[in-house]
Amino acid sequence: MFTIETHPTASVEESYRELNTQLAALLSGERDLICNAAQFSAFVMQTVADLNWSGFYFARGEELVLGPYVGKVACTRIPFGRGVCGKAATALQTQRIEDVHAFEGHIACDAASASEVVIPVVVDGKLIGVFDMDSPKVGRFSEADQVGLESFVSTFIAATDMNWSI
Ligand code: SME
Repeated sequence: MFTIETHPTASVEESYRELNTQLAALLSGERDLICNAAQFSAFVMQTVADLNWSGFYFARGEELVLGPYVGKVACTRIPFGRGVCGKAATALQTQRIEDVHAFEGHIACDAASASEVVIPVVVDGKLIGVFDMDSPKVGRFSEADQVGLESFVSTFIAATDMNWSI
């Protein structure tokens, strides 16, 4: 049984550093993309406060297709360039949205979502997909959260074989 320990008095930066070490331990010994993506989504949901959705979309042709996630049912396909996820996919840059209702083209999967971070998963310059988190709180994600969450995604990339096929 894997237990996650955080210290309530730690700074945001310290908490992410501690959690990232635990994440690396959690994913070690397993390199399957679907398995690690599922485990990663659950780890983020369990350790990052105030989230209502945590999960992946994978790049397939010119669109993103829903992958492992934790949260309410979501839209299955997002064309590149559409919504926050599609923008992260084309810009190849993290999108951190304070208020999704002020983002033109935001795709509302869960009406409770108020802020969002989408981090592109890029390996050797190639887009594998995006990792998306939603929060019911406006302005939930600070710059320190972005840095910490990007470090989680780097750990996921290092721990995982991306050439998955059935
Ligand atoms: N809000 C996203 C769509 C995916 S859901 O949040 C799970 C977007 O605008 O791309």
